[in-house]
Amino acid sequence: MQKKFYITTPIYYVNDKPHIGHAYTTVAADVLARYRRMIGDKVFFLTGTDEHGAKIEEKAKKARKKPKEFTDEIAAKFQFSWGELNISNDNFIRTTDKNHIRAVTKALKFMRTKGDIYKGVHKGLYCRECEQFKTERDLVDGLCPEHKITPEKVEEESYMFKLAKYKDQLLEKIKNNELQILPKERKNEIISFYENEGLNDISFSRKNVGWGIPVPWDKSHTAYVWADAFLNYLTGIGWNGESESPPDKGGEGGFWPADVHLMSKDILRVHATIWPAMLLSLGLPLPKTLFIHGFFKIEGQKMSKSLGNVIAPEDLVRRYGVDAARYLLMSATIFGRDGDISQDKFDEKFNADLANGIGNLVARSITLASKINSLKSLSGGQELKVKESWLEYEKALYEFKIDTALDDINRMMKISDNYITTNKPWELIKKDKDKAADILYNILETIRHISWMLLPFMPETAEKIWDSLGLNPADELKKDFKKAIKWGGLPIDTKVNKGEALFPRL
Ligand code: MSP
Repeated sequence: MQKKFYITTPIYYVNDKPHIGHAYTTVAADVLARYRRMIGDKVFFLTGTDEHGAKIEEKAKKARKKPKEFTDEIAAKFQFSWGELNISNDNFIRTTDKNHIRAVTKALKFMRTKGDIYKGVHKGLYCRECEQFKTERDLVDGLCPEHKITPEKVEEESYMFKLAKYKDQLLEKIKNNELQILPKERKNEIISFYENEGLNDISFSRKNVGWGIPVPWDKSHTAYVWADAFLNYLTGIGWNGESESPPDKGGEGGFWPADVHLMSKDILRVHATIWPAMLLSLGLPLPKTLFIHGFFKIEGQKMSKSLGNVIAPEDLVRRYGVDAARYLLMSATIFGRDGDISQDKFDEKFNADLANGIGNLVARSITLASKINSLKSLSGGQELKVKESWLEYEKALYEFKIDTALDDINRMMKISDNYITTNKPWELIKKDKDKAADILYNILETIRHISWMLLPFMPETAEKIWDSLGLNPADELKKDFKKAIKWGGLPIDTKVNKGEALFPRL
């Protein structure tokens, strides 16, 4: 039976344009989605924009625009960037979509009827940038540690959500991996948060924020942005709020629960507390996995407008091309750990891994193969360790070890390079044509396997390699994956094409 795989990125705030931090999450989700599609899973990949709240209202005002006009412009920028990066999302959800608003309204009513939302007064410190209430303990020198601003003192009438009620149930589900949090350190961090600080009821509405979804039973309030935003994971797969309660599968395709919500550590805590509590309140199953990747700095500095070091996704694409940009992001750090980016490092990696690595291997092999009439498959190519590499590669991607999968591909390239150097096919062509034809078959067939492994990471490059190998990309894409990755898929009478260099040196 076909397995379903539902993966999401966070929906990004439209108070700012997309940068490579957003791109990192989105490309990673894209790689995992493309990999699952490649192996035959039924995939839904969701991304989008988070468009309500005080922060965005303020930015729109500063830009002298109506909030809707402002959010339309920035949402379009995200869509443009994801197009540039060849992102294969199945939907782009915006929290200003009518269906989303209708569904949020229904969900709030449902949770209130259940007794999980009540009227109270919320007193606390609020960071506008996080759009989150903070406790004294969260602050460093009185400032929000994330945004280095003094949170505002807020005391207002508010509709409160009974978060505390769900503490024990959630802690249990996190401990027993019913809600799996990866990597393990992040799970431990959340468990100690639950155990040391516990959960308090939280404010689910704001009285003085106009730019939001009105609370259906009291229009003087708007819904708390996070309550609104989380529901995108259900509305993005088709819950349009026409039914009274969210259907247990979340949408038409039966995609709920999410298989993985991908994000960075800045928003783990809310995803491991408020969101699953909302789901319990709504009577829905919890997402299977929260995968937390690291945070990126640029040359050791936090990305910020004032430092002028913000890199837009399109800047990368312009310099390196789309596939190389995707590769450089994915290989920048161990998936799950913090990273540091710099143009010098990217340039170096481009030349080492792409120009001298895959680009050179393909060019060199095709040139040699073009010197003989026909290939011959005699020895079966076991020395090239293709089967073993597939096992490692697939295990890595199943465990969300994206950088490890790239290491597996790079190792295969090194094995192929060594195989060429050891067997010297350029000499064999003159002395022993059959042997040369066999060695070259093994190399080209290994390159064909490499191209499949590259497909989720560098879809255009995979197609260019097929073209060089004399294969038709459209036909390759239609192939059953299991059959495609059997040894011997390259016909011996294939006609190779030299084509242009894949990654010309910078
Ligand atoms: N709107 C909320 C999310 C709501 S989800 C229901 C939000 N938006 S955000 O625009 O601030 O995006 C945060 C996410 O962007 C991070 O969790 C991460 O996925 C990505 N990143 C933003 N900056 C990043 C880095 N510098 N490094 C790595 N990822 C970063 O939070």
